[in-house]
Amino acid sequence: MNILITAGPTREPIDPVRFLTNRSSGKMGYAIAHGLIHAGHNVLLISGPTELDVPDYVDFVQVETAAEMHAAVSHHLGKMDIAIFVAAVADYTPAVVETHKIKKTGDRLTLELVRTPDILGSARSALGFQGTLVGFAAETENLEANAREKLTKKGCDLVIANDVSHTDIGFDSDHNEVLLVYPDHTDSLPSAPKTELGATLADLILDLHRAKTSD
Ligand code: PMT
Repeated sequence: MNILITAGPTREPIDPVRFLTNRSSGKMGYAIAHGLIHAGHNVLLISGPTELDVPDYVDFVQVETAAEMHAAVSHHLGKMDIAIFVAAVADYTPAVVETHKIKKTGDRLTLELVRTPDILGSARSALGFQGTLVGFAAETENLEANAREKLTKKGCDLVIANDVSHTDIGFDSDHNEVLLVYPDHTDSLPSAPKTELGATLADLILDLHRAKTSD
């Protein structure tokens, strides 16, 4: 099977030396990639900047910005059976990227931000993807309700939700604990190392795809 995974953070440049980013390490997405490779599938990993080694046997596309990730996903999604969006994509990017380093002038500086493309949100609609679509939801409150809203709005088959208000799971941790939000029910997986959880999630997503395509 051909499977696309997005992982890691994006970096949105402000000027030649500064950017907006977040604490995603890429560990969760890379662990799922490892699980799927181990199960014998073709994995295309589209990743923002991380310190991780590129897993053996994946096709790898390195990106920096949300716009670059969107372009890479748009280019490859048509050939995929499954798409899994684990990346922590910036929702906003500076309206203008200054060509010179911004100088210290007044006491305050206002940065104007504009929306980035909603990559997961465009998969079904703009990109016409009909395969198995898995999103993630990083929430600090109302985990299940917010994840279920994303599931419906973005046409996902599954949203994997994590509570990122906890520092021992989620962003930049070696562990994660997730809710699995399906259209008709919700399950949970207890806290586990991301390396183990990646394999569990890979199996579970493959089962979901088999169930969907045997209908
Ligand atoms: O990388 P790690 O340190 O291992 O941490 C893992 C993680 C916490 C980043 C991961 O488990 C996780 O929660 N990933 C989703 C992070 C996120 O940005 O969630 P969100 O609720 O803001 O976005 C919802 C979904 O839309 C996600 O599938 C996201 O990839 C996608 N999205 C968001 C914005 C955007 N412009 N385009 C998108 O495709």
